Amino acid sequence: MGAGGYVATPAGGQRQYNSKLTFTVLVCCAVAACGGLLFGYDNGVVGGVTAMLPFQRKFFPTVYEHSTTGAGGPQTADSAYCKYNDQILQLFVSSLYLAAAFFSLLAGYITKKYGRKVSMLVSGLSFGAGVILMAAAQEIGMLIVGRILLGVGVGFAIQSVTLYNSEMAPPHLRGALNILFQLCVTIGILVAQLINYGVRDVEEGWRIGLGCAGAPAIIVIIGGLVLPDTPNSLIERGHIEKGRKVLERIRGTTDVDAEFIDLCDAAEMSKSIQGRPIMNIFKKQYRPQLTFSILIPFFQQFDGINAIIFYSSQLFDILGSGQKSALLSSVIVGAVNVASTLVAVFGVDKLGRRFLWIEAGLQMAATHVIVAILLAVYLKADNVMAHAPAIGVIVVLCVFISGHAWGFGPLGWLIPSEIQPLDTRSAGQSINVTVNMLFTFLIGQSFLTMLCSMQWGVYLFFCAWCVIAAVWAMFFMPETKGIPIDEVHLVFRQHWFWGRVTGTADAPLPHYNADGVEINRASITRNSLQRHSMNPDGLMTISMDPKALANKDLGPPAVPLTGDFHSYKDYNAESK
Ligand code: BGC
Repeated sequence: MGAGGYVATPAGGQRQYNSKLTFTVLVCCAVAACGGLLFGYDNGVVGGVTAMLPFQRKFFPTVYEHSTTGAGGPQTADSAYCKYNDQILQLFVSSLYLAAAFFSLLAGYITKKYGRKVSMLVSGLSFGAGVILMAAAQEIGMLIVGRILLGVGVGFAIQSVTLYNSEMAPPHLRGALNILFQLCVTIGILVAQLINYGVRDVEEGWRIGLGCAGAPAIIVIIGGLVLPDTPNSLIERGHIEKGRKVLERIRGTTDVDAEFIDLCDAAEMSKSIQGRPIMNIFKKQYRPQLTFSILIPFFQQFDGINAIIFYSSQLFDILGSGQKSALLSSVIVGAVNVASTLVAVFGVDKLGRRFLWIEAGLQMAATHVIVAILLAVYLKADNVMAHAPAIGVIVVLCVFISGHAWGFGPLGWLIPSEIQPLDTRSAGQSINVTVNMLFTFLIGQSFLTMLCSMQWGVYLFFCAWCVIAAVWAMFFMPETKGIPIDEVHLVFRQHWFWGRVTGTADAPLPHYNADGVEINRASITRNSLQRHSMNPDGLMTISMDPKALANKDLGPPAVPLTGDFHSYKDYNAESK
């Protein structure tokens, strides 16, 4: 496999890490993939099982009555739109995300304090318990408690598995892995839809659908037990030697000095800001980070995606396709979702985030308008839509899904995570996950009610948010493609609007030593033994850690400060 990888240093140079894509790293990625699969599976499975008649009969008798011929009162267009309007059914879908919103915050703390593995274990165990409860459910309470346990698992998985994956991966594969997580989410959704389709005629087939989530959960539990923790987490928690050994093992070489030094620096810097990141993000200079961590997940959910992912089987059933075709149509939508995510995997670094976001927003807005028109014109009081417009709705929804899959879906996770400087990274990530889960909860809990009261107008509601998101991006989203992760936040200084809030390109830059390490804060370099800091005259001072000095080799001497960039503008001009 490919060896080595360049990382850009903050001073604009490139430093080479010796990193191979080793077997250990591949296993780690497979475990991370299971985290994404679990999340996607849980999103995708509910729509199908709630459309199954035996499931409705057991847990949602009113919905069942409406679904079967003759029952549910006079057949009007209203009754088609309102067929599935049931708060408990929506709670069954949405409770997972409310639990995930709260537990992702706790997971952020546990992941930092006790390591990524502990969180993975909690995630896998909680998933396992939730799956058992749901597959064995005899009453609605068991289903809801099961969904809440899955929510705890999702909260812990999103925090720990994504972090674990990006820390284990060679640096040059980090960006791609971020989007691979989203790809796994879409594959999880598709697998769930396929299983639902496969078991549709089995009397208690829904138990199989809900129970199959146990397979990736077991893999995540085994991963939490046997995989090593990440070098980053080990070093941050003071296990420096062990961290280095794991780093050598996963990179497949003992020549890991450059990366090891950077990890020690990052750990030291992270300690110096410990306890404060959540306060940091509220400072004026980090207003773009805070805004993006809230608005991007909001827009991702209010494009209407989960109205389709959670409830497409219900929608297709309303169109008159019948249970079997409704489940099959969901599979088609799921397959388009997976295929279109590949466009993002390959296109995000070429076409850019901004272009994909704006294009996707406008594309989804247009499809919402067409669906609204088709429903308004063709969904009549006899409750059955003619074949041609019903097919039209499915085709247009596929075009909608592809917009989300190469736009708001992956970018909703990528952008908020890559714009954070170290000071706000953990807080920004926690806010992003929590806000995303809260709005997923809101959509899950309210879509069927909105559909009942707004009818086809609900699609115009989502259309409005897609347009607002696209126009907002035209004015407020700078392009971040191809910029090293630790420099992305500097882009806001050059932006016409954000520059006024954060300080413009002329504002003073942090200082770096020749290793590219920021040294206006204490930092450790050279085998973690020397501490560099700047005195008020701009001179570098070095102090040694006496305990470490007692039994360690010092390595090469510290290098003098190089580069004379006083502002982002200077820096930019120099590095071109
Ligand atoms: C969203 C999920 C959604 C999925 C659909 C993800 O980006 O966060 O809520 O179900 O995309 O593919």
